[in-house]
Amino acid sequence: MTKFVEAKFNIPVLKGITEKNIEEHLKLYSGYVKNANLILEKIEELSKNSEENAYVLGELQRRFGFEFNGMVNHEYYFEQFENQPKKLSPASKLRETIEQEWGSFDAWLNRFKAIALTRGIGWAMLYYDPLTKKLLNAWVDEQHLGQLNGCQTILALDMWEHSYVADYQPSGKKQYVEDFFENLNWEILEKNYAEAIK
Ligand SMILES: [Fe+2]
Repeated sequence: MTKFVEAKFNIPVLKGITEKNIEEHLKLYSGYVKNANLILEKIEELSKNSEENAYVLGELQRRFGFEFNGMVNHEYYFEQFENQPKKLSPASKLRETIEQEWGSFDAWLNRFKAIALTRGIGWAMLYYDPLTKKLLNAWVDEQHLGQLNGCQTILALDMWEHSYVADYQPSGKKQYVEDFFENLNWEILEKNYAEAIK
């Protein structure tokens, strides 16, 4: 059976988010990769006696979406910080599409920041839907409940408390969102978009 492989990231010094927090956060990511692999291994093993193990198999299968999306969401999250922060180029296709959809880049940004402040743990996501050719904002509870079927991730903002509480305290959630956008390398997002519209 093929295995999911843990990715490595070249993350620079960030505004507001400490190296220590990134280091701890990467350990959580590592756990998702490990558990996504573990679930598939256990399913294979327990399937040898599938009737007897039906209940456990069902629960493992149910849990797979949690571990898999935890792994993939974090890969989008950490990759966005790689190299160095870069603004979204005024000439970029992604900016043009955001402006078409929401009227202006700032209108989209304000809407997205508001989504990020949704109460509870989860992710604020910007997706591209290849069927309707639309960009869509979404809130995802935990990391799997509310992912949009068939859509490609363009931007993934982790709003679990582990991503900011050590640096910002619970009350600093809004500042974490502000700093996240300061730290973002939009070239990576432009690449995500270019791949999504291929
Ligand atoms: Fe996280």
